[in-house]
Amino acid sequence: MSKFYEERVLSVHHWTDNLFSFRTTRDPAFRFRNGEFTMIGLEVEGRPLLRAYSVVSANYEEELEFFSIKVQDGPLTSKLQHLKVGDPIIVGKKPTGTLVLDNLLPGKHLYLLGTGTGLAPFLSIIKDPETYDRFEKVVLVHGCRQVQELAYGETITETLPKHEFLGEMISSQLIYYPTVTREPFRNRGRITDLMVSGKLFEDIGLPPMSIENDRFMLCGSPDMIRDTRELLTSRGYEEGNHGEAAHYVIEKAFVEK
Ligand code: A2P
Repeated sequence: MSKFYEERVLSVHHWTDNLFSFRTTRDPAFRFRNGEFTMIGLEVEGRPLLRAYSVVSANYEEELEFFSIKVQDGPLTSKLQHLKVGDPIIVGKKPTGTLVLDNLLPGKHLYLLGTGTGLAPFLSIIKDPETYDRFEKVVLVHGCRQVQELAYGETITETLPKHEFLGEMISSQLIYYPTVTREPFRNRGRITDLMVSGKLFEDIGLPPMSIENDRFMLCGSPDMIRDTRELLTSRGYEEGNHGEAAHYVIEKAFVEK
């Protein structure tokens, strides 16, 4: 039996010169937990060329969605960025990943901290009703260099609050905090700096960090993960994984070199 499903591209959206997302068909047998990633890619010269991608869509949706950078000489993304409706795409049958609710201890506030395409797994998590059952407030922080890289901002602030079933939960429990580092914007600075200074918590009207109440999921570049993890561990937060729930979990955002 093949290790892959062969799906078809249903739509493509280009956010910037360097960022795009696309939706595909979904085999009904493909199961995943919100926040997980799977291998996806193209057949190139008769062989699968694959990379790990977080699933942006929630696990109850009929289609799959992925969010990607474009790297002009990246083996996969140089090709993937030219996807057109109807093109075939390979989806690995074994999704996995640590950014799942079960890897966190119970708490009051869930902080989803993503930089760049590290936003992707959190888009799935904020569409999961379970997220709002487990946490009083869900804070989605997206850090980017430039304003135009704040992809999905409108989906989060306009579309999701009107969602047929989740709209009410999202309106009252989800806080979206986009922040930009390299040009003017209403929120400025790195996520780590905003946490250390306390500005993040002041701006969103939640109390300062506490191990008792706050849980974190991190997804970004290796540097972002390292610095945020250091910040959390220095304050006594412990990292969770499969089989052992704790205060925070991490995943590297996909970057193709
Ligand atoms: P900065 O512009 O100060 O480097 P990248 O595209 O390099 O992954 O960066 C995405 C966002 O993550 C940028 O806003 C960047 O800020 C920020 N960032 C980069 N490194 C770190 C880090 N070590 N800790 C926190 N944020 C970071």
